[in-house]
Amino acid sequence: MRLPDDILLRFAVCEVTADPPLDILSDEERARLDGFGSEKRRREFALGRDTARRLVAGHTGEVPEGVSLRVAEDGAPEVDTLCLSIAHASTDTFTLAGAVASPLPVGIDLEVVRPRRPDLYRYILHPDEYGLMQTLPHDHDTTQVLLWTLKEAALKAMRTGFRVSPKALRFVMPPFEGMAVLRHEDTLWDLQFAEVEGCFVAVAFGVTSPPAR
Ligand SMILES: CC(C)(COP(=O)(O)OP(=O)(O)OC[C@H]1O[C@@H](n2cnc3c(N)ncnc32)[C@H](O)[C@@H]1OP(=O)(O)O)[C@@H](O)C(=O)NCCC(=O)NCCS
Repeated sequence: MRLPDDILLRFAVCEVTADPPLDILSDEERARLDGFGSEKRRREFALGRDTARRLVAGHTGEVPEGVSLRVAEDGAPEVDTLCLSIAHASTDTFTLAGAVASPLPVGIDLEVVRPRRPDLYRYILHPDEYGLMQTLPHDHDTTQVLLWTLKEAALKAMRTGFRVSPKALRFVMPPFEGMAVLRHEDTLWDLQFAEVEGCFVAVAFGVTSPPAR
């Protein structure tokens, strides 16, 4: 992905046969881990937090366990001086986590490319966007997962998540060569995407005002 220089990105993979990394988690994060009902959620949370701490520490020069990583009221992860976003996804064999940080709002999503319900696109896309299902050079399942990943990355950069419908974000042009642009009301989000380990990863950034109509 060709991200602007001030956007930091880090990935980590943990095989399901390996223990997730726990040694640099805070006491609060360990307490949250104990409250999760599934091993998958524990693994994803631990790997995501570990990845985010190492990403931020690499920038600030702190030790990873010294990074003050908090959860905001809206659920988004927060650190001092940077905007931060975390995503994770799991297959039967591994968990993949990604973290992205920037001085400006930024969001990341990761989704495994695998079959989903065939009509998923109707939840993601505004009816005016249904043509994208035929325009993009992928099969139906892959196209749905890509469009989902792009819209969710922008919803995370906005920090609303799915409290805002993905249909409220509209593609300004069809995603092309790893790039996309989404509009939400008067805000444009630039996106870069790629396929990593059988997953789509998308990063949303760069809030710009659209040209005057
Ligand atoms: C934010 C959201 C899109 C994440 O989607 P997801 O499929 O659960 O998981 P992802 O791997 O993409 O991302 C998970 C990370 O998103 C981050 N996150 C949580 N809320 C967030 C928000 N409002 N904005 C940005 N990021 C958020 C967290 O860091 C979380 O990881 P962690 O808890 O392990 O640290 C989704 O949880 C959501 O829409 N939340 C808001 C609405 C809500 O709370 N609904 C209740 C559940 S249906």
